Amino acid sequence: PEAELHDRIRAAKSALGDRVVVLGHFYQRDEVVQHADHVGDSFQLANAAKAHPEAEAIVFCGVHFMAETADLLSGPEQAVILPNLAAGCSMADMADIDQVEECWEQLEDVLGPLDDADADGRVPVVPVTYMNSSAAIKGFVGRHGGIVCTSSNARTVLERAFARGRRVLFFPDQHLGRNTAKAMGVPLDRMPMWNPRKALGGSTADDLRDAQVVLWHGFCSVHRRFTVGQIDRARAEHPGVRVVVHPECPTEVVDAADEAGSTDHIRRAIEAATEPTTFAIGTEVNLVRRLAALHPQHTIFCLDPVVCPCSTMYRIHPGYLAWVLEELVAGRVVNRIAVDADVAAPARIALERMLAAKP
Ligand code: 13P
Ligand code: SF4
Repeated sequence: PEAELHDRIRAAKSALGDRVVVLGHFYQRDEVVQHADHVGDSFQLANAAKAHPEAEAIVFCGVHFMAETADLLSGPEQAVILPNLAAGCSMADMADIDQVEECWEQLEDVLGPLDDADADGRVPVVPVTYMNSSAAIKGFVGRHGGIVCTSSNARTVLERAFARGRRVLFFPDQHLGRNTAKAMGVPLDRMPMWNPRKALGGSTADDLRDAQVVLWHGFCSVHRRFTVGQIDRARAEHPGVRVVVHPECPTEVVDAADEAGSTDHIRRAIEAATEPTTFAIGTEVNLVRRLAALHPQHTIFCLDPVVCPCSTMYRIHPGYLAWVLEELVAGRVVNRIAVDADVAAPARIALERMLAAKP
C-alpha cells in the first residue's frame, strides 16, 4: 500500500540523515516531491547538487541527463543515484554525439576551421547545448569553447556565445533555441534547422554562411503538444486569462501566449499575482496541478485538456525511491550514474560556464 511506501521512505531517510540528499524536479509526481529536500528546475537542481558536499549520496528524482549533471557537479566520492534507470528524456536522445561530431565536420567544410578566431577575435561557430542532452554532448561543447544552458538562463548564455562567435549551433531543442534567439532579434530566416539525416543538415552552404543560429532537429514530446487553438479556446472561455508557457513550446504558441519562461519562471509568475487570477499554463501537468493546489485563490489549469505528463519523469515511482534509499541504509549503492572520466572534464567546464550565467 502507498502509505506503507511513504513510511519506508521516511524511515530510510531518517536513518541516513545528512548522508543522503534527495533532489526532485518540478515535473515529478507529488508522491515523490513530498520526500525531496530540494524541489526545483534544472538550473536550481544543478546548483543543489553542488551544495551538499556532506552527503555520501545524491538521489536524483528526475531524468537521466539531470543525474549525469549532478554527478559532474558533485564531489568524486559522492554517488548520484537515479531511482529508475529507465527515466530518460526523448529530447535528449534526439542528439547523438556521433551526429553532432558529423555536423561539426560538415560545418567546418563550409565555414573553415571552427575553433580558430578571426581578426575580431570571434570564432565561426560556438556550440550551445541545452542541459537536456547527454554528458558526451556536454563534453563536446566544453572541448569547443561552448556553454550549456537551461531554459532559465538560455538568453544570457546565447548573449555570451554571440560575444565569442559569429554563429551559434544550438541543440537539441529547436524550440528553445528559436524562441530565445527570436526574442533577441535574430530573424527566423537566419536560423536554418540541422536535420542529422540530411547532407549539410538539409540546408545549402549559403544558408549556413548566412546563419546566426543553426538549430538542431529536436523537440520535447510534452511541450510540442500545446497549440494556438488551445490558447484561443482558453481566451474565449476565460476572458482575462493569463497564458504562461514553457519555451520548449513551438514558436507560434510562445507568440500567442502572454509570457514564456522556465518552470521556475512559471511558478514565480503565479506567486507574484496579488489579485485572484486565471492562469492557463503550457507545461507538464504534474507541476500545473501542484501549483493549482498551492494557490486556491487563483484558477490554474493546463492548456492541454488531455492529460499531458512527461512519461519518463513519471517513471520515478515512490517504490523505486524506497528501494534505493533502503539499499543505502544497508550499505549498498544501486543505480549509480557515473560519467566517464574522458567526457567528464570538458563537460564540467561547459557546466561551470552555465552556472556562471545566472537566469
Ligand atoms: P526546466 O526545469 O529548465 O524548466 O526544464 C524543463 C524540462 O523539460 C526539464 O526536462
Ligand atoms: Fe524531456 Fe520533455 Fe520530459 Fe523534459 S518534459 S524530460 S524535455 S521529454
